Amino acid sequence: MSLPLDVAELAVAYANKTPQDILKLAFEHFGDDLWISFSGAEDVVLVDMAWKLNKNVKVFSLDTGRLHPETYRFIEQVREHYGIAIEVLSPDVAALEAMVKEKGLFSFYRDGHGECCGIRKTAPLRRKLSSVSVSAWATGQRRDQSPGTRSQVAVVEIDGGFSSADRPLYKFNPLAQMSSEEVWAYIRMLELPYNPLHERGFISIGCEPCTRPVLPNQHEREGRWWWEEATQKECGLHAGNLIAKI
Ligand code: ADX
Ligand code: SF4
Repeated sequence: MSLPLDVAELAVAYANKTPQDILKLAFEHFGDDLWISFSGAEDVVLVDMAWKLNKNVKVFSLDTGRLHPETYRFIEQVREHYGIAIEVLSPDVAALEAMVKEKGLFSFYRDGHGECCGIRKTAPLRRKLSSVSVSAWATGQRRDQSPGTRSQVAVVEIDGGFSSADRPLYKFNPLAQMSSEEVWAYIRMLELPYNPLHERGFISIGCEPCTRPVLPNQHEREGRWWWEEATQKECGLHAGNLIAKI
């Protein structure tokens, strides 16, 4: 199949295929123009699967400046374990300094996470994804991660947040159908390195001030931006999930 891809058709055809089949499809069409976005958490599974299919896999992480020390160390561990160059993206200095000067370091507890995530995550991601050498990206999003926003995530889609009028950006979510249980069975079975925060009650891991461990039987998403409404818990990386619900 040549470009442009019929994502609606492929999303149906690949809905129940394995993550590796979905990654193969992505590599087949985009090769080295496919980028994996790695948050430093359970999505190490995605890095592992992609690396096993393509040793030249391209990976980036968004360094918000507010990740846990454990996450920074883990990103480094993954870089060494796979022998890959992980591109670490930083926020725009002027925008960040202006926000912190005006509102301080914890404005998200008062104003909501939108502005801070916008500067620390979404803008650097937009910069990365607008580069001509990026035609597609793959994320570790899963349907079971957030009943409020991710229950419909497709295995492949046109990115609703970052495509431009003249250039569609393809977004692959190879783990969409995997459950948390399956992810952890994979990590344990293959003895992958993992973020040590998972041993301390963290399931979903984002920035340190906006993530907390969850209690038994509490949904993982409740540990993220816990002061906000469940249906709004997306930060701009996956804004399409919110648009799709309107
Ligand atoms: S978030 O949008 O709420 O922060 P989440 O932590 O569930 O996302 O992770 C889902 C996927 O989004 C990850 O598997 C990864 O592909 C991408 N992602 C999230 N945070 C980052 C990050 N800091 N750097 C790179 N990718 C990220
Ligand atoms: Fe800022 Fe919190 Fe968003 Fe991180 S998760 S960018 S600290 S609002």
